[in-house]
Amino acid sequence: MLLTNATISTLEHGTGFGLIDNGAIALQGDRIVWVGPEQAVPAHLRGGRTRDLGGRLVTPALIDCHTHVVFGGNRAAEFEQRLNGASYEEIARAGGGIVSTVTATRDAEARDLLADALTRVDALIGEGVTLIEVKSGYGLDRETELKMLRVAREIAAKRPVQVRTSFLGAHAVPPEYSGRPDAYIDEVCIPTLRAAFAEGLVDAVDGFCEGIAFDTEQIARMYEVAGQFGLPVKLHAEQLSNIGGTRLAAGRGALSADHLEYATDNDARAMAAAGTVAVLLPGAFYTLRETQLPPVQALRDHRVPMAVATDCNPGSSPLASILLAMNMACTLFRLTPLEALLGVTAHAARALGLSDRGRIVAGARADLCIWDAAHPAELAYRIGFNPLHARIFNGEA
Ligand code: NIG
Ligand code: FE
Repeated sequence: MLLTNATISTLEHGTGFGLIDNGAIALQGDRIVWVGPEQAVPAHLRGGRTRDLGGRLVTPALIDCHTHVVFGGNRAAEFEQRLNGASYEEIARAGGGIVSTVTATRDAEARDLLADALTRVDALIGEGVTLIEVKSGYGLDRETELKMLRVAREIAAKRPVQVRTSFLGAHAVPPEYSGRPDAYIDEVCIPTLRAAFAEGLVDAVDGFCEGIAFDTEQIARMYEVAGQFGLPVKLHAEQLSNIGGTRLAAGRGALSADHLEYATDNDARAMAAAGTVAVLLPGAFYTLRETQLPPVQALRDHRVPMAVATDCNPGSSPLASILLAMNMACTLFRLTPLEALLGVTAHAARALGLSDRGRIVAGARADLCIWDAAHPAELAYRIGFNPLHARIFNGEA
């Protein structure tokens, strides 16, 4: 298939938006085989099926590289509590927060979890997302963690989207292990990771390194098992305080460190040295009315790639809009529209360890978005508008 009459934002390395006016893209199977100005299309790529895009904007398809879309229930009551003055941490310490979603997720049938997750996934697909990372972490027991991961895998069978799973057993200490986080790690978390890996359910190992969750030593034990399986690691780090998670993650060559509001210049330096992507989650910053900004300028100065994701979850970021996450990244964190777009394409791919997508270049996967827009800055600029015209996934419209 040959796409013609397109305004293309290739995001090719070192070219900014990489804009091509009157451009064309040739697709064969699930790959991009050629991109460039329309008048330069090689003869052997002409004569097949052609689709005139009427001058519309084409970008790489979008990637949501940090979500918790599989969960039971919702936390509207906690939203009310926070508006009445309680903090996220207070609610967590009083046995609410993540643990209340754990109860609802344990109680839910897999088919209901899937149906619920698909409503959120559909919203993301409707904005041009073709790849979603999904975490476990609302089961905190073997059976429910496995149930969540199977549901996450099932999403890709039910919808035209790819899914990467992250094992997040180290998300919170479940009530039955209250005050005994080490026992939870050894008796539940590690054996469950082994079982999930054996079932082919895990693409990466994540953790929540925080005062209300796990310390660096406990996360390091999870990383050790990840290492035995050759699984890459990630971390929720420095979201509410700085306890050294970013340095631990970078030291283990993590794919990403996520949130990072309390990360420092030295943390950014460590991430740069390790090639760790900074995943910024403005939906959580917004929802929790955080005031500490992630160190965006330090990340730029040290050339740490920045990704942007929804963090879609029932507590800290009930957000199922990747376009709004881009807008928030610009308005709240002062990312440029180019940084926001790279954040949900090339850099999001890298945060998942993938280099075959996120830019429109020959050889990349044929996952594209066609927008009713003239310039890529429009994608992050509007609030509550969805200019998606069509999405191409696996080379198919
Ligand atoms: O990414 N930070 C920890 N985990 C989630 C929040 C989960 C929840 O509150 O349910 C996050 O923000
Ligand atoms: Fe998260």
